[in-house]
Amino acid sequence: MSSLRIKLIVMVVLTVGITFIGSLMVFSLAVSSRMASLEDLSLSEQMGDIAAALSWQDGRIAVDVPVSLRRDYRTGAGQFIYIVSDENGRILDSFGSTQHLRPLDISAKGLNDNMQLFSTLRELGGNESKFFAAEKWFTIGPDKWVNIQVGQGPAHEDVLADEILFEMFERNGLLIGGLIASLIGGVIFIVNQLTGSLRQLEKQAITIRPGAQDQKLQVARVPSELVPLVSQINEALRRLNEAYVMQKNYSDMAAHELRSPLAIVRCQAEALADSAEKNMLLDDIGNMEQVLTRLMQLSRSESAMVGAHQSLELGETLGEILSEIGGALIRDGMQLSLTRLPQPVHINADQAMLEVMLRNLLDNAAAAGGAYSTVTISYDATGSVFIADNGPGVPDDKLSKIFDRFVRLSDSTTDGHAGLGLAIVRALADAQNASVSAHHADMGGLEIRLAFSLSAVSQL
Ligand SMILES: Nc1ncnc2c1ncn2[C@@H]1O[C@H](COP(=O)(O)OP(=O)(O)OP(=O)(O)O)[C@@H](O)[C@H]1O
Ligand SMILES: [Mg+2]
Repeated sequence: MSSLRIKLIVMVVLTVGITFIGSLMVFSLAVSSRMASLEDLSLSEQMGDIAAALSWQDGRIAVDVPVSLRRDYRTGAGQFIYIVSDENGRILDSFGSTQHLRPLDISAKGLNDNMQLFSTLRELGGNESKFFAAEKWFTIGPDKWVNIQVGQGPAHEDVLADEILFEMFERNGLLIGGLIASLIGGVIFIVNQLTGSLRQLEKQAITIRPGAQDQKLQVARVPSELVPLVSQINEALRRLNEAYVMQKNYSDMAAHELRSPLAIVRCQAEALADSAEKNMLLDDIGNMEQVLTRLMQLSRSESAMVGAHQSLELGETLGEILSEIGGALIRDGMQLSLTRLPQPVHINADQAMLEVMLRNLLDNAAAAGGAYSTVTISYDATGSVFIADNGPGVPDDKLSKIFDRFVRLSDSTTDGHAGLGLAIVRALADAQNASVSAHHADMGGLEIRLAFSLSAVSQL
């Protein structure tokens, strides 16, 4: 259990912190490497400019720095220095310093291909400042060597940094885009983490079914703000379940309780002398017994467990069930047909439950359309079964009501039909995770659709 708010704060701070430190590291690495390369470049350009001003004339080294370059040095506020010396250490020309930036090393003459980088402290505006400098030996004239030292002061770094920042924002849009994307990714991650516990609750809620034991939402990993709400929902679930079980047991118990007195009444009626009244009384008792049996069937169907069902091949199963229960109906005149698909269709269902459902539906069709009614049974590849008849059908506004208990559209209540058959069908459909609905049939009567889920065999 944890607080949603604290979780949110901790995670946002963590994500922003990690992103910030990461980008700072990447940024400073990029800046320092770029800075170094720009400094190198700038020094070598300076070096090249000065070298271009040297020539060998009349047996001596001539230094002829162009006027424009001299002007650049003068406007450099002391930030730029150069010193040209011969191999004896004599300064031939300089700007900004009258002494070497570092002592001349004659033995380094051979390294004339490489510019030697170094740093040195110089006076700048009355203070000692660190200069970034470079030195290089050149050959000039007949085996004569000349040394050039160039340096640049600290203000130059600011200029470079500005240049680098501009360059990075201009060129490295990708890097900045990446940072923004990672920030957005972080936020999405946080929201997902936070809503994860809500999704867990949703998953648990989907599996809650009336009548099952000990059903509640788990409080263990729920944020503390939601705990009171989840506890209230659990309490409401418990009360609803109690009421549901009591109501379900009530009809079952009532049916059981009524069976014994009814059996006594039957015995007494059978002991009467034969008469038309006796027969009517026995018929009524028979109807009442039938209603009690239906009530108990409904009660059993409602408590049927949703468990591991068989995988049934629809064509084969429906064929078996119809050969079991259809004989009597056909003998009574019903035209009953089953249309099978060429390919197998496997559904998750229980054969015994399916048989009870079909028995009820065919009884209804016979009761509604008379003995000579036509009933077609078909199914499709999605696992839906269609039972259609050519009877009088059911009006639009009653189509969804006929599944409720004790709903009968005809007035007669004396024939032992209590209006429980379709309630039993719906309870059994629920028990198999299937759905049931009523529609108008093409042939004019009622069509009942049972939609089962395909079993793994069919989904392969
Ligand atoms: N095929 C049908 N055609 C027309 N009406 C139907 C059809 N099936 C059901 N009904 C109507 O729906 C009502 C409810 O059906 P249900 O099977 O639940 O009860 P019942 O058949 O009257 O009684 P029970 O099934 O308990 O013996 C029926 O009374 C009937 O009015
Ligand atoms: Mg019925």
